[in-house]
Amino acid sequence: MAKIPPGVGPKFPQVVVLVGATGDLSKRKLLPGLFHLSTAGFIPGCRIIGVSLDDIDADRFRAIARAALDQFSHRKAVDEAQWTAFAEQLDYVPMSAGPAALREAVERAEASFDGESRRIHYLSVPPSAALAAVRMLDEADLVKRSRVIMEKPFGVDLESAVSLNRRLHEVFSEDQIFRIDHFLGKEPAQNILAFRFANGLFEPIWNRNFIDHVQIDVPETLGLGQRSAFYEQTGAYRDMVVTHLFQILAFMAMEPPTALAPAPISEEKNKVFRSMLPLDPKDVVRGQYTGYRSEEGVDPESETETFIALKCQIDNWRWAGVPFFLRTGKRLAEGQRIISIAFREPPKSMFPAGSGVGAQGPDHLTFDLADASKMSLSFYGKRPGPGMRLDKLSLQFAMNDTGLIGEVLEAYERLILDAMRGDHTLFTTAEGIERLWEISTPLLEAPPPVRLYAPGSWGPKSIHQLVAPHAWRLPFERAWRDSNNGGG
Ligand code: BG6
Repeated sequence: MAKIPPGVGPKFPQVVVLVGATGDLSKRKLLPGLFHLSTAGFIPGCRIIGVSLDDIDADRFRAIARAALDQFSHRKAVDEAQWTAFAEQLDYVPMSAGPAALREAVERAEASFDGESRRIHYLSVPPSAALAAVRMLDEADLVKRSRVIMEKPFGVDLESAVSLNRRLHEVFSEDQIFRIDHFLGKEPAQNILAFRFANGLFEPIWNRNFIDHVQIDVPETLGLGQRSAFYEQTGAYRDMVVTHLFQILAFMAMEPPTALAPAPISEEKNKVFRSMLPLDPKDVVRGQYTGYRSEEGVDPESETETFIALKCQIDNWRWAGVPFFLRTGKRLAEGQRIISIAFREPPKSMFPAGSGVGAQGPDHLTFDLADASKMSLSFYGKRPGPGMRLDKLSLQFAMNDTGLIGEVLEAYERLILDAMRGDHTLFTTAEGIERLWEISTPLLEAPPPVRLYAPGSWGPKSIHQLVAPHAWRLPFERAWRDSNNGGG
């Protein structure tokens, strides 16, 4: 087992109240994540109390947890001895048993530790159910010594976000609340901060004088499966842009924080959000894949978007006039998560017509947010041989080639661990969320009509007008180089 460096995990054992314990996210990510964190020694002790609407007992919950680990754990097969130890840490209280039963279960769990412990409540449920859970925690008197992790969506518009935050704050103080955005827990997202602020190379040109435009592009191939009913109320903008894409944009665009600490980082991110101009519906393309309306749980006349592309602007000294293009959607041609930064072209060219200069677009720096972080810098270089013919070449880096990849924590694991330590660095604040809903208001009030697109395409045709005179970086002209063959 890899040695865990000191200070990475929490100091005290943790009692986790997992609300929504039998739901999809819990099975896919949270239970496998908690299993890894406890068995790999990141947490000094852990007891998990599942809570949900299902009237089941602790043994049934253990069986559900075991099936989830077998199906979704990305690591090697579950070790039987580790499972036996983990299963003993699991307990279950159905929502219908009420606050007193939950309180008893938490006290039992706490009594199993020798000394002090902390409580962490993970609310893996939609906002309406989250407030009911918050009330239950309050009635069970489980607010003290506790932290609460909230899942998105954090409201559906400004009014609902303000009201949700107000009602949360009646029970938990802001410093107890951890609003999770799993994109910020992805290793490559944090690598953006390292790349920008640990090096002197790019930061001097990280501004409107050198950068022409930016794309944050997260196409997905997957459809909605069992999630149609949730998604029908949500759509691509609320599901992906307000949360994940704008958060990534803030990491990409923020000023250097005064320290690598939660408050200075949140402050710089919030300044980016404050500088963003309200979205103009004219700069937005909403799409829906053909066939969506006949899926189960979907209104046959649904206007919900399964695709969105938009242009937004950060109106501050660093970024004024630089368009940021964001795109994401379901059932698209490829699954990718990239940030692509296009640099300005040189003011004059001495290369003869036909040499190929500029023919393949501007120089680009690309961050690939795939689980194994990748990065590339593309530039023009001379093609070997007589004369002066230019080609687009690239420097590429893949974390996979470093041999360090085994140490990656899955995004949820990383964030749960941070919340257990009380570290807010990678979480979002009430202020930031409310500002993002504020700039969304013109779009939410007058959304452009949804345009159909064929599954397996890159979205409706009008996406090209949106970025003109630039072009979408995806699909890439050249594949990422495979380190084994050196080609590309
Ligand atoms: C979730 C969205 O938050 O993020 C999903 O609700 C989306 O619709 C998912 O598919 C993408 O996350 P990842 O980590 O799989 O890229």
